[in-house]
Amino acid sequence: MQSEMIRDDFAFFNHSDLVYLDSASTTQKPKSVLEAMDAYNTQYCANIHRSSHGLGNAATSKYETAREIIGKFLHVGDKSEIIFTKGVTEGINLVAQSYAKEHASCVIISALEHHSNILPWQQIKKPLHVIQTKENLTPDLEHFESLLAQNPNALVALIHTSNAFGITHPIKEMIALAHRYGAKVLIDAAQSASHMPINISDLDADFLVISGHKLYGPTGIGALYIKKDLHPLCNPYQVGGGAIMQVFYDHTEYLPIPYMYESGTPNIAGAIGFGAAIEYLQSVGYAYIAKHEQNIIAYALEQLSQIEDILFYTQVASMQSNISFNISNIHHHDLGILLDKQKVQVRVGHHCVQPTMRFLGIDGTVRVSVGIYTNKADIDQFIKALKRSIAMLKG
Ligand SMILES: Cc1ncc(COP(=O)(O)O)c(C=O)c1O
Repeated sequence: MQSEMIRDDFAFFNHSDLVYLDSASTTQKPKSVLEAMDAYNTQYCANIHRSSHGLGNAATSKYETAREIIGKFLHVGDKSEIIFTKGVTEGINLVAQSYAKEHASCVIISALEHHSNILPWQQIKKPLHVIQTKENLTPDLEHFESLLAQNPNALVALIHTSNAFGITHPIKEMIALAHRYGAKVLIDAAQSASHMPINISDLDADFLVISGHKLYGPTGIGALYIKKDLHPLCNPYQVGGGAIMQVFYDHTEYLPIPYMYESGTPNIAGAIGFGAAIEYLQSVGYAYIAKHEQNIIAYALEQLSQIEDILFYTQVASMQSNISFNISNIHHHDLGILLDKQKVQVRVGHHCVQPTMRFLGIDGTVRVSVGIYTNKADIDQFIKALKRSIAMLKG
């Protein structure tokens, strides 16, 4: 069975008897990613874009190949549109400081945003406008349009798939609407990219961010896409060696993007591992991923829906890659502790969306998230452990 072969690719499952249902926080890493990083560290470790010796050239070539792999994966027009970052958080901060600070009048966000897509805009003191939600946490597109009409030169910053509630925004429609009013759009694809193909050319996003560690790659590496047309408007950020053409005591001439944004020695092994993770994901293929994950989620939802006193916060059918719930009169943290004791790893808490939780009148949920390696046995063990935990807590 393909799912068992996939599980074999992850060393974690060879030695662990834990049920891992927290892939939205970070994914496990396949052997090919670990091997690619190991090869860099043991066979051709050298700095990039500096040393003209053979080792340096080999490392530079692998690093730049990783950029190409990620560019093709996201269907960008030109690989210079891909900037390596530490992850989604750094990518959004970079856009805030280098672009939005000077060129955006305000920022329009959805009501489901991760703190990483709220704080960077507060930091540059831009007014934040929040799109109202309709029932089931879906965005009110009429309200969105009225915000766009009232706020020329806005930057729209939208989560693609909600990390906390698993629902996916209609971003193609929202990007087109924003563009009609002259706004630029940033998409936080931290959660969506591992579950569905992202085609930037088709979406026409202006900025888009992803993290390696949510795509079966290493931590501490991510990618930021900036549309080529906007490069002339983007200012330097975190400057230093590697970002420059010429330095004088009174001014500096910078290299073009992406190099202007990759000063200092970057996470070379991480970038190479990220490239290997994308190749791994592509070898599995989104057709399989979507079918497999939707089956697993549907299987979990079918059993969860039968549990007495379960509370969901959106339509059951719209939770695609993760499921958020509470059991009435039981605190999610108590469930988290008891599930952990039964070897089931889920995330409980506010999931970095405190304003959304406040809007719902709760302080958190239990979140179950899946990946390409999750199987039905994981769900069976989780449901059994959940039922036992509920029984214990309800006495
Ligand atoms: C939707 C979303 N945005 C941003 C982030 C932050 O990503 P990172 O920690 O990789 O910077 C996360 C991580 O959980 C996320 O789920």
